[in-house]
Amino acid sequence: MKELFGKLADGTEIHRWSLENGGTRLKVLSYGGIVQSLEIPDGEGRYANVCLGFDTIEDYVTASPYFGALVGRYGNRIGKGRFTLDGTAYQLSVNDGENSLHGGSEGFDKAVWEVEPFTQGPDIGLVLQHTSADGEMGFPGTLRTKVTYTLTEHGDWRVDYEATTDKVTVVNLTSHVYWNLAGESSGSVNGHELEIAAARYTPVDSGLIPTGELADVAGTPFDFRAAKAVGADLRVAHQQLLYAKGFDHNWVLDKGVTAEPQHVATLKDPSSGRTLRIATTEPGLQFYSGNFLDGTLVGTGGAVHRQGDALCLETQHHPDSPNRPDFPSTVLRPGRTYRTTTIHSFDA
Ligand code: BGC
Repeated sequence: MKELFGKLADGTEIHRWSLENGGTRLKVLSYGGIVQSLEIPDGEGRYANVCLGFDTIEDYVTASPYFGALVGRYGNRIGKGRFTLDGTAYQLSVNDGENSLHGGSEGFDKAVWEVEPFTQGPDIGLVLQHTSADGEMGFPGTLRTKVTYTLTEHGDWRVDYEATTDKVTVVNLTSHVYWNLAGESSGSVNGHELEIAAARYTPVDSGLIPTGELADVAGTPFDFRAAKAVGADLRVAHQQLLYAKGFDHNWVLDKGVTAEPQHVATLKDPSSGRTLRIATTEPGLQFYSGNFLDGTLVGTGGAVHRQGDALCLETQHHPDSPNRPDFPSTVLRPGRTYRTTTIHSFDA
């Protein structure tokens, strides 16, 4: 189902698509490819929307900290918004202190995507397409991006990312859903249990740029190899937690880059039993514990969102990879196709 959601200041119409399959209900906006709502049942069949969102397009345009959005061209940070590629230096839009975050000031979260619904056997979904001009936000190359949201017959939400370029460039696409499996506007997620299949993470400096070290999680608050409450170590006086006001770090997934999506993380809300499992082809996972939610935003559930009322699990390549030749490469060359996949599965 497609309906008018609102209009941008210049009159552009923004539509909302509603899909349901395999017990999962998804609402997607053409603005930013935003997942406005994702409803799943608990063990008793009681549905809840488990994603933070807004009711109006105005809120998304003026106030959204990437709620549910597609993030590009580069998910997370690039130090000072600078990098050199094949001997040419590039300066990106800088929008987070001295750094570039999530593609710069007008990232893919603010683009109006072309959206086409599809049915394939028992699966349904949406194909979202967007072309970013050569030089946009400082990135080289015309980037043609296609993101496919599939709701499978089992109720999985699968995201396939594809991109091509006409000049050598860097790409790192992700999705910025804020999860609260007890339901949007239900309060803190500190009691959610999280497991991440990663023995290392990328420590950061005070601007949240990786230092280059791949540090062991063993014996630190960053050890989620066995499921642990999100809030268990959140108040440990660890320098890395102080820098980020909580968790806002990239875990180096043990499996590395894979051709097929592999399991990397499980998030469970013990109160409702709702469980999210993430499988991906990507080598990194940004776990952000909603540190910068500060009680100034009102969600679709009608409540104010405060610090820790949701968390993000963004599958990605490591932040600042264009300046770290030893990290898995984010370079895309003409004639090649960027392809990554992330699958979100639910049960209760
Ligand atoms: C970043 C955070 C940022 C948040 C919302 C996350 O991916 O790592 O630092 O505040 O996105 O913008």
